[in-house]
Amino acid sequence: MKLKPVLLILSAALSFNAYAQAPIVIKFSHVVATDTPKGQAAERFKQLAEKATNGRVKVEVYPNSQLYKDKEELEALQLGAVQMLAPSLAKFGPLGVKEFEAFDLPYIFPSKTALYNVTEGEIGKSLLKKLEPKGITGLAYWDNGFKVMSANKPLHTPSDFKGLKMRIQSSKVLDAQMRALGANPQVLAFSEVYQALQTGVVDGTENPPSNMYTQKMHEVQKYVTVSNHGYLGYAVIVNKKFWDGLPPDIRAALDKAMKEATTFEKAIAQRDNDMALDAIKKAGKTEIYTLSVKEQAEWRKALQPVQQQMESRIGKDLIAAMNKEAAK
Ligand code: LMR
Repeated sequence: MKLKPVLLILSAALSFNAYAQAPIVIKFSHVVATDTPKGQAAERFKQLAEKATNGRVKVEVYPNSQLYKDKEELEALQLGAVQMLAPSLAKFGPLGVKEFEAFDLPYIFPSKTALYNVTEGEIGKSLLKKLEPKGITGLAYWDNGFKVMSANKPLHTPSDFKGLKMRIQSSKVLDAQMRALGANPQVLAFSEVYQALQTGVVDGTENPPSNMYTQKMHEVQKYVTVSNHGYLGYAVIVNKKFWDGLPPDIRAALDKAMKEATTFEKAIAQRDNDMALDAIKKAGKTEIYTLSVKEQAEWRKALQPVQQQMESRIGKDLIAAMNKEAAK
């Protein structure tokens, strides 16, 4: 047999094999509803990724803690049981990367522009790098928004928090924040919050309106205060071994799809939160209160010590660098 026909047969067999191969599956697990900024962006990423790779990649999105709750999903990612997540930045402490909790510092970002100075600059990049030794690659930052506070009593001044049991995410900064207000913080997985509020296991909580509305928390919270006292955002992360093992052309296509999904996500986050706050108002079960300038000054004063308290955990230099970027 001549060499050329043999090579032709071989290459045909190989390409047939490539087509016959099962697609690469990315299981993308998250804890919020599909009609939140994160939920919609996960769906958008799926569409873009599958199209860009001509179906060689299949993205399966599992919303609403369907597969895993907060802590379990990070463990599942490290074990390779899922490939992609977008946990809130407040949830990386248990993984040993405490620095992300800097995003939880009260009033650290006066605006989204200030936030982007951090996430899109050197600080953002260096924080994602800290995930690598944990077997995780950080791909992007996604937004949610600034948080409101809720309870079954009006929350106008710090003294209104005295003795309230407030649900928080696992961040120690959020723990310090609630203590500075005189409340008792309780860490609970996101999937457990509605029931905990309903049954009185906790009295109140904090979240951007999109999370509050889509989990129906407003149905069991009589008062919401628009305080914008803190930020909630996400890091989109993948299992590093899985990511590094992808064929380079696939990885490049997924990177591009992620960039596009990220642009989409940032564009819808604020609008979704405005719509959710409106919807909570219209539902008529919750009184929405916006802090006056004087009250906001009182909140700021009460929460000011948190930055210093958290220096030893997060790093004095990181907090200073973030404050500097935010002030630009
Ligand atoms: C929460 O646990 O309160 C939220 O961070 C959930 C999320 O992912 O937005």
